[in-house]
Amino acid sequence: MKNEQCNDLLQQMHETELGGVKIYETALTCALNDDLKEEWHKYLDQTKRHVEVVLGLMDALGVVPQETPGRLVVRHIGVSLVAAMKLAKRTAPPEAAEIVACECVVHAETKDHANWELLGTYAQSAKGDEKKAIDRALADIEDEEDEHLYHSKGWCRELAIASLGLKAVLPPPEEQKDVKTAIGAARAKQARRELM
Ligand SMILES: [Fe+2]
Repeated sequence: MKNEQCNDLLQQMHETELGGVKIYETALTCALNDDLKEEWHKYLDQTKRHVEVVLGLMDALGVVPQETPGRLVVRHIGVSLVAAMKLAKRTAPPEAAEIVACECVVHAETKDHANWELLGTYAQSAKGDEKKAIDRALADIEDEEDEHLYHSKGWCRELAIASLGLKAVLPPPEEQKDVKTAIGAARAKQARRELM
C-alpha cells in the first residue's frame, strides 16, 4: 500500500479492535442488566473476529502491524477507557458504574465506526485488488459496527434516563427495532415514547 495515511489508518483500526476487546471484557464486569450482558457478550465475540478481519486486510494490502503515533494514541485512549470503568466500579454505586461502562463503549465504538467509515471513503477511489480486499472486509463487518454504535448509544441514553428516576425503554428501541443506520437510530430515539 502506497498511501502512508491509509497505512496509519489500518494501524489505528487494528489497535481500536484490540482495545475494543479489553473494553468489552471490562464493561461486562460493570453490566447489571441481563439483556445488556447478552448484547456485550455478542459484541465481544464479534470484536475478537474484527481483530482477525483487520489483520487479514492488512496482510492482503501488504501492511505489517507496527507502532505508529496514531496507534499509540488509540492505545492510550483504550487503556484510559478501561481505567475509567475500573475507577467507577471501585468508587461509584453499581448502577452508576454500569452507565460509565456504556459511555466508554460508546466512546470506543464511535472511533471504531469512524475508522471503518473512513476506510469505506478511501475504498471509493481505490482500484483493483486493493479495492476488492477493502470492500470484502467492509461487507463482512459493516452491519456489526453499525449495531455496536447505535445500540450502545441507546443503552447509554436509556440507562441514564432510568438513573434520574424517569421511565426508560429497556432494552432500548434501537435494539427492539434492530437499528443499523444513523437515520434509523434517530427514528428509534424519536419513537421511544410509543414503546413506553
Ligand atoms: Fe469492531
